[in-house]
Amino acid sequence: MRQRHSDYMHWAKTQSRARYNLATSGVGFFPLAELPAHPTLEINGDSKYGYAPLQQAMARKCGVDPDCVVAAAGTSMANHLAMAALIDPGDEVLIEHPAYELLVSAALYLGADVKRFARRAENGYALDPAEVRRALTPKTKLIVVTNLHNPSSVLTPDSVLREVGGLARSNGAHVLVDEVYLDAVYENTPRSSFHLGPEFIVTNSLTKVYGLSGLRCGWILAQPDLARAMWRLNDLFGSIPAHPAELLSVTALEHLDFIRARARRIVEADRAVLADFLARQTAVSAARTGWGTTAFLRLHNGDVDALLARLRADYETTAVPGRFFEVPDSFRIGMGVNSEMFREGLSRLGRALAAT
Ligand SMILES: Cc1ncc(COP(=O)(O)O)c(C=O)c1O
Repeated sequence: MRQRHSDYMHWAKTQSRARYNLATSGVGFFPLAELPAHPTLEINGDSKYGYAPLQQAMARKCGVDPDCVVAAAGTSMANHLAMAALIDPGDEVLIEHPAYELLVSAALYLGADVKRFARRAENGYALDPAEVRRALTPKTKLIVVTNLHNPSSVLTPDSVLREVGGLARSNGAHVLVDEVYLDAVYENTPRSSFHLGPEFIVTNSLTKVYGLSGLRCGWILAQPDLARAMWRLNDLFGSIPAHPAELLSVTALEHLDFIRARARRIVEADRAVLADFLARQTAVSAARTGWGTTAFLRLHNGDVDALLARLRADYETTAVPGRFFEVPDSFRIGMGVNSEMFREGLSRLGRALAAT
């Protein structure tokens, strides 16, 4: 039986909310009223294989040719579409561990033979090409990574991605890089790994770093022939996007720097609070980064699910259980929504840890 659901997404939609919600992954919602300009909305538009102004705006943002851009409903559909275009049932797909659960679920749904390679906690969750090489076989069609890494927010440098790309190329495989968190590197923001070679396929959206999830403005970057195949495949999925969202997305892309700066202030304030919290805590530790909207905390002793159940029941605070990333001794917290809530949530987490 093929897997036809995601336990993590179901949990996120039904269980993650609380007064002090540390179970977030992206920045807070950006309100329409704060967009510096407003498009004239229309219900229907000329969108067949892309809406030309949006294609151009996404291509400009990524520094690529519009022929390399495939619009998709969020990074979620971008990942699904990219995998569906590349994978036949039985193909081997190598996915990082720990991973964003949906990447694994989508590959399993498509009938892939999913294999894993480790990003080891003891190495600060760094992506290690030697681990990829060990897991690679002649049947490997696709290597899947996130950059920044979800859950740890660790950044993989281009030199390492190039090595992984070289492994894929010599195997006739591709590398899928989910870059939905990459723009949360606010200084010297890396260019998309799409620029590293034709074996790279990149997915992204305006969701996590810009607070624009509701636009569902996602995209895939792929070589033109593959991009065309993805457009044709999308005729079986979404086919035509919501045109008002396309119009708003064009405007949002014109003002991305402004939108990003607003969230940056909150993310950076929260990171300073987190650094302070971690410096005082002996019960948990985390890979430290200077960027990203999530952190992955390891609980040194005790049961994470029991801790998080108490945190919710007695302290009105939630975090994401590490079991959703197949790392049951850890949990993920999110930054960038509301600094007062974050500070109080961490304080409550500290009290719950002290009461263990
Ligand atoms: C790595 C990763 N990719 C994709 C998504 C989904 O993004 P979107 O809302 O753009 O579909 C998430 C959301 O948590 C994510 O963490």
